[in-house]
Amino acid sequence: MQKYVINGGKPLFGEIEISGAKNAAVAIIPAALLVDGVCRIENVPQISDVTLILRILEELGADVRLLNKNTVQIDSRHITSCHVPDELSRKMRASYYLIGALLGRFGQAVVSMPGGCDLGTRPIDLHVKSFEKLGARVDVVSGYVHATAPKTGLHGATIYMDQASVGATMNTMMAAARSTGLTIIENAAKEPHIVDLANFLNSMGADIMGAGTDVIRIRGVGQLHGGAYSIIPDQIEAGTYMAAVTATGGDVLIKNVIPKHLDCISAKLVEMGAKVEEIGDCVRISRSGPLKRVNVKTMPYPGFPTDMQPQISACLTIAEGTSVVTEGIWENRYRYVAEFRRMGAQIQVDGKIAVIEGVSKLSGAPLMACDLRAGAAMVIAGLAAEGTTDIGCIHYIERGYENLVEKLRGVGADICLVEDEDEEAQHKIEAV
Ligand code: EPU
Repeated sequence: MQKYVINGGKPLFGEIEISGAKNAAVAIIPAALLVDGVCRIENVPQISDVTLILRILEELGADVRLLNKNTVQIDSRHITSCHVPDELSRKMRASYYLIGALLGRFGQAVVSMPGGCDLGTRPIDLHVKSFEKLGARVDVVSGYVHATAPKTGLHGATIYMDQASVGATMNTMMAAARSTGLTIIENAAKEPHIVDLANFLNSMGADIMGAGTDVIRIRGVGQLHGGAYSIIPDQIEAGTYMAAVTATGGDVLIKNVIPKHLDCISAKLVEMGAKVEEIGDCVRISRSGPLKRVNVKTMPYPGFPTDMQPQISACLTIAEGTSVVTEGIWENRYRYVAEFRRMGAQIQVDGKIAVIEGVSKLSGAPLMACDLRAGAAMVIAGLAAEGTTDIGCIHYIERGYENLVEKLRGVGADICLVEDEDEEAQHKIEAV
């Protein structure tokens, strides 16, 4: 087991290059199963969720080759199984995309109920309703989702999403891409990775219009062909480093971003006292003055993203005054609060609302990451705190951040990865 050790209190200066978007990659890689050909996917982040989804594709019979660190070639012409084993799909939420992709290509999928970070109940009823609207039969038996298309294949349908679900929107796009007829998704989610998936599928011959708006039209096509595609930069990774600079102070050029995707994050950081400047495909962020309080409510895109809520809360723990944070998407996204309190933060949580009274400083403490973005927020708190912060359970953070330690060290942070003997001992005790 490994942990991060951070000696905080240092402002950050320099440049950080942003990797490909995790939540686009974990959808686009399964979408390659829809293609009767070879896909070359570039700008793939090297993170553990990607490693896992690639392993699942290999298990299904795809020929997966890493052409270089961030380019993967997937040949799905000779898939041998539509059954995704429990021990792999349980480890990540995005394994639900295998249902849409396998159903869309082969008319059948057996996938264990998805796992992932514990942010609440995380149902998949909207995915199931959409597949049924397209004509599939879906049953959950012994922990597995069994989805089967009728003999005539899936057919187009008009689907109204009760809630603008990112996963259900993308899964429906995958299942419908090769169906017969027209599918219309109303009240679709609009996140940047939805547009990215549509662009990927269209570049392979699909006919999808309107991604990025709340009505998406998918005209089914008989076949998809191979090709090359580059994944968009990660909005949340960029936002996380922007939040880190806001918390510590300093001046950092964040490279390889789509600045428009960051507007919803930049607006809040500017309100807190940061300066943000767009320079082509980079944003420069700096802060030297005081950190000011703000209120934040997380909403679907283009609102403030839930996946940035813990990170901005880390900044607000040391802002002047009282901030109110409202979580609008997940029911259980404040599990990091107990860890922040160990550092001296003043936070009260009541349901979906957190009231944060800024303190003049945080003090370093031993912490345990409890999910991906909570872990990233603990890194930010550790960078801003006085003294040493140890963060255990970093496998959560490695699910979504490529080379986090190297990137932060590159801008002057005192952070390193060390073997965690205590944690190992703890695990041994638990095992006994
Ligand atoms: N929902 C349902 N039924 C469903 C699906 C969703 O009720 O069938 C509800 C959820 O419980 C939640 C809301 O709808 O309250 C939104 O969920 P959504 O389906 O949009 O989330 P998701 O697709 O499961 C993706 C990201 C999350 C991110 C959310 C919201 C992936 C793999 N995950 O999850 O990312 O928080 O969208 O933007 O794309 C992360 O990266 O840290 C992360 C958790």
